[in-house]
Amino acid sequence: MGRELCAVGPGSQLEIMRLKNKIAFITGAARGLGRATALSFAKEGASVAVCDIGASDSGLASEIEKAGARYAYFPCDVTKSDQVNEVVKAISAKLGAIDILVNNAGITQDATLAKMTEEQWNAVIGVNLSGVFLCTKAVVPGMIEKKAGKIINLSSIVGLYGNFGQTNYAATKSGVIGMTKTWARELGPKGINVNAVAPGFIATEMVRKMPQDVLDGMKQRTPMRRIGEPQDIANACVFLASHEADFINGAVLSVDGGLVL
Ligand SMILES: NC(=O)c1ccc[n+]([C@@H]2O[C@H](COP(=O)([O-])OP(=O)(O)OC[C@H]3O[C@@H](n4cnc5c(N)ncnc54)[C@H](O)[C@@H]3O)[C@@H](O)[C@H]2O)c1
Repeated sequence: MGRELCAVGPGSQLEIMRLKNKIAFITGAARGLGRATALSFAKEGASVAVCDIGASDSGLASEIEKAGARYAYFPCDVTKSDQVNEVVKAISAKLGAIDILVNNAGITQDATLAKMTEEQWNAVIGVNLSGVFLCTKAVVPGMIEKKAGKIINLSSIVGLYGNFGQTNYAATKSGVIGMTKTWARELGPKGINVNAVAPGFIATEMVRKMPQDVLDGMKQRTPMRRIGEPQDIANACVFLASHEADFINGAVLSVDGGLVL
């Protein structure tokens, strides 16, 4: 149900485009996991709307164009409800009502409990928790109207197990799991699936800030013996956004190479 077969390549080989005709909104997608997810969604046939805090999408438009997808970029700070509401309205006007929301925008400001300032605490709570709340609140009425939708929240294994020096980040990523399960209960009856992805350590700028010896240790402790790639997370998001995941609701999908087994 809901699958589209598309002729691709010179031999007209049949390939399933899992997100054909879907409108997706991905936050914080100018780089990293959001960017990889936006590109994968475009390749799967979705129209893709992206926001990030800066004025530029760092060339994502031309990459998405190659995939032949409809695309729009909006500068937006997800902690500002007025900006978020404006962007959601603009996406509906430009591309159509949103079918898929990926709450990806996130930040770290690490320090041990003793050294963590209130500013660091508030900054991370603002983006990682309030941002997810505000974007979801803005998008959900349209999904309720359609009686369908997929919401994917980026949590982290840190939200499941904690991490040294990440009081603020761990609190938000656990909070994202709490919101995911709450919304799965509230919105499931309205045809909306809400799930979380909990990445392990994935090679993006966020993780490249970590000391090399910590990263090497992480690799050794990971049964798959590598750090994750952004595509590993994008693949999980495509699956959860697709009809293949229609009966998955309130789940937390760890994508960590088995790091925390
Ligand atoms: N990389 C990892 O190993 C890893 C692991 C677990 C979870 N995650 C989560 O995945 C998500 C993406 O992580 P990433 O590694 O790609 O990070 P990243 O830092 O590479 O990208 C995050 C993006 O969010 C944007 N952003 C930050 N504040 C924003 C705001 N207020 N409004 C709009 N956009 C904003 C940034 O500009 C950036 O483009 C985050 O939620 C992160 O917590 C990442």
